[in-house]
Amino acid sequence: MAEDLSGSSLEREQRERSSGVTVTLRVTRYRPEQETEPTVTDYEVPLRPDWTVLDGLNYIKDHHDGTLSYRWSCRMGICGSCSMTVNDDPKLTCGAFLTDYAPGPIRVEPLRNFPVIRDLIVEIGDFLRKLVRVQPWLTRAHHRPIDAGEYLQTPSQLDDYKQFSMCINCMLCYSACPVYALEPTFIGPAAIALAQRYNLDSRDEGQAARMDVLNDHDGVWACTFVGECTTACPKHVDPAGAIQRYKLTAAMESMKGYVLPRGGS
Ligand code: SF4
Ligand code: FES
Repeated sequence: MAEDLSGSSLEREQRERSSGVTVTLRVTRYRPEQETEPTVTDYEVPLRPDWTVLDGLNYIKDHHDGTLSYRWSCRMGICGSCSMTVNDDPKLTCGAFLTDYAPGPIRVEPLRNFPVIRDLIVEIGDFLRKLVRVQPWLTRAHHRPIDAGEYLQTPSQLDDYKQFSMCINCMLCYSACPVYALEPTFIGPAAIALAQRYNLDSRDEGQAARMDVLNDHDGVWACTFVGECTTACPKHVDPAGAIQRYKLTAAMESMKGYVLPRGGS
């Protein structure tokens, strides 16, 4: 193993703390067994150029208070579990660098528009139930036999839905959405983008079933096209674009009902 010429990481952290190169994380705490309202606590963490807000929280947990609770897993913008509110913006904390917020203090709060369970952990059941409602899987009336081979797609057919397949279910778009904040029954940006991921897949035949959910007043028509969802999205999914595109699809389907004879398509 290569020798760390600058000494152990612990020594380096101690040097940084003693040199005063730190930043304050102003963290919202909520421990339901001991307080009825959230409180705010300041913690000093090393201000290192390669550290994110998530690294700062891990430092707090290791050095200040092991009871601090928050979710994370991959540390690389893939799992979508480290979403929180950083200085009022919904962010993946593993992608939010401390130096971008220096000199601080940096406010770290739970993701907005979701009930708080503890500290920085929110309850995500509503989001998960909405995802299931749009049937985010390939639906076919008839599956061909395995020996008939794969369902092949052209690069252009893949391009039709690829952008919407990049969603990591981080919920930043729900936290940013003013409609969801006021109307919790709104199915929401990511669920609609995910529905479009399958609607636009050449192998899928589930568009009619998804339309019942999407073409509803709690579906795409609740969206007032503020666009904050697309601004907040760290994966460039463009849920606002997915919603507007589906509004056009739903309107065309309604028009067909008037123009075509019964049973026409
Ligand atoms: S659409 Fe973007 S912001 Fe919304 S859950 Fe998916 S990745 Fe996150
Ligand atoms: S820890 Fe996985 S996206 Fe941040």
